[in-house]
Amino acid sequence: MSRKLSADADQLLAELQHLATLSDCAEPPPAVTRVVFSEADLRARAYLKGLYEEAGLAVRVDPIGNTFARWEGAEPAAGVVGSGSHTDAIPHSGMYDGTVGVLGALEAIRTLKRSGYCPRRSIELVMFTSEEPTRFGVGCTGSRAMTGRLTADQLTGLKDESGDNYDEVRQRAGFSGALQDVLLPEGYYHAFIELHIEQGPELEAAGLPIGVVTAIAAPSQLTLCVEGEGGHAGAVLMPVRRDALTAAAEVALAVERLARESVSPDLVATVGQLGVHPGAANSIPSRVTMSLDLRDIDLANRDAVLVRLREVAEAIACRRGVKLQVTVQNADPPSVADAGIVDAAEQACRDLGASHQRMISRAYHDSLFIGQVAPMGMLFIPCRGGVSHRPDEYASPEAMATGVEVLAATLAKLAEEA
Ligand code: GLV
Ligand code: MN
Ligand code: MN
Repeated sequence: MSRKLSADADQLLAELQHLATLSDCAEPPPAVTRVVFSEADLRARAYLKGLYEEAGLAVRVDPIGNTFARWEGAEPAAGVVGSGSHTDAIPHSGMYDGTVGVLGALEAIRTLKRSGYCPRRSIELVMFTSEEPTRFGVGCTGSRAMTGRLTADQLTGLKDESGDNYDEVRQRAGFSGALQDVLLPEGYYHAFIELHIEQGPELEAAGLPIGVVTAIAAPSQLTLCVEGEGGHAGAVLMPVRRDALTAAAEVALAVERLARESVSPDLVATVGQLGVHPGAANSIPSRVTMSLDLRDIDLANRDAVLVRLREVAEAIACRRGVKLQVTVQNADPPSVADAGIVDAAEQACRDLGASHQRMISRAYHDSLFIGQVAPMGMLFIPCRGGVSHRPDEYASPEAMATGVEVLAATLAKLAEEA
């Protein structure tokens, strides 16, 4: 690719800003809440479909809403070069997580088209359904199902807070067809590369515009349910209490301590959700449900800490006379980027004069699952202060434009491969 690649940062920013208005957050943009299969999600999907069609792409939506926008190559039967990310957003988050990888891939395609390039392999943008675990407790349902990591039965077994299952909810949202058909045929992707904000501070600290990802850390998510005994907050004396919340609090502190003591500096653990029953000021909590998110690039260490955590939590429960039930929602392996895609991305950086470093992704992405069935890579761009999953998440238009141009150059290289 020797042609000049020049991304339109103004258009990309305007589209990101409009997308941010399609939100259920009580606060205005840049605060965003966009939960899968909600009204806001459906309005965002409709807006994006219009943009894909305006760009001359052929749109296909699978039975759970994974959306593919295809730029047909000269050899339509050859494996596809894919790029994309997600547009769902956790409650009260920012406007760049995932969206930069969807609208950025669209702008990369438009940039390549403007340059006069015509691909040999088809280049396909994908918007994955539900990368965030907000509604169904498991992240990346779209890419898991596409790669056979979540079967039709397992999808149907996922329930939201109202007790509605994934199948019912996706059908109510207007997505039809057999869940089995979400699975991609073997060899569908020749290569896949996702653009994303770093969600950490390393690139900004190093003053570098691009990170080339070499591996994605192994995520796991658990739900812990603590059952104690409720009662009147005034009448039950302290020595006989079996308070589910104080037991859960002790478990949360143990989680933090074990994570801090871990031999791997990359291990992180978070209790992000706490449901207290019955939730009255003058009632002793009888039941607490808590989430646990635990990750490490080192799978053996992640699993060892998980085992230790269960032991410690059970000991706390036993001492406090409460029952503990632990459910593993997911415990996934890490994913290693394909050496050829890393090379292509680094060569694209050199061609465009964009300095870069290799790095791991501590956050998970749909690429984690695509990487288990196809050659995968990721490009990171810096975000201010490394902040993400917060309304003040920010990536500059210049940073996004560089990311899009490197993505475009990498896609063009991959699309010409034999
Ligand atoms: C993705 O949003 C993650 O939690 O890593
Ligand atoms: Mn996220
Ligand atoms: Mn994301």
